Amino acid sequence: MKPHLIILGAPGSGKGTQAAKLISKGFKHVSTGDLLRSEIAKNSELGQKVSGIISRGDLVDDKTVMALLKANCDVDKVSYIFDGFPRNVYQAEMLEAELLKDKKTLAVYFNIDLSILVNRVVNRRTCGTCGEIYNLATKAPRVLDTCDKCGTVGSLKQRKDDTEEVVSNRLKIFKETVEPMLSFYKSRRELVEIDASMPEEVVFDALEKVIS
Ligand code: AP5
Ligand code: MG
Repeated sequence: MKPHLIILGAPGSGKGTQAAKLISKGFKHVSTGDLLRSEIAKNSELGQKVSGIISRGDLVDDKTVMALLKANCDVDKVSYIFDGFPRNVYQAEMLEAELLKDKKTLAVYFNIDLSILVNRVVNRRTCGTCGEIYNLATKAPRVLDTCDKCGTVGSLKQRKDDTEEVVSNRLKIFKETVEPMLSFYKSRRELVEIDASMPEEVVFDALEKVIS
């Protein structure tokens, strides 16, 4: 079995885009952001609890997200890509103690100049049917508001937390939390870095090299 991949990277650094591509390499993708948004869409008790937090761009409390993650992974059977978890050292420790235990893991840091990310994120659109990720500035769908992948018309949505103001808060939180997390994985010799400012295909080639 391949190691479980932990993708660390700022909002808009391309975690979701690359994780979707890595499915073709036999990984299963789990994104805590997607799981939380799905709870909001269902209007579940959890969704109601986290909706305001996510709209402001703040972090949901560690134990709530860990419980959601555990309920949605079976790490014994398949190698996972963890997208959006961990967000701090406490979550990294919990991930290991409560889920991955002695399993082989590799953390990949999507290194990128944060100043380009607001522009990337405010232009993101996501297909509400199949989850395909677009960018109005750099990767628009061939036909306006129609998903190239699944063909659904009128399905491209903007995330509520993708406004300039909220992205700025998300980036600020990222800056405050990233270094200790990188040190955590570095000290265990489980960290590799890739340049996430390159075009999508180049980033994917770099990832393929890392996992082979
Ligand atoms: P989450 O959904 O995880 O959001 P995020 O970490 O802020 O990351 P994004 O999804 O915004 O960016 P991405 O890196 O996936 O980029 P993408 O590939 O889409 O979390 C949302 C919220 O949920 C959090 O703020 C928090 O409230 C809560 N939450 C989630 N996990 C939590 C946790 N563990 N603990 C506590 N709270 C948690 O790409 C972005 C855009 O760039 C797209 O338009 C894409 O087309 C474009 N793009 C991608 N790659 C490239 C490239 N190489 N070149 C040019 N453009 C590119
Ligand atoms: Mg994402």
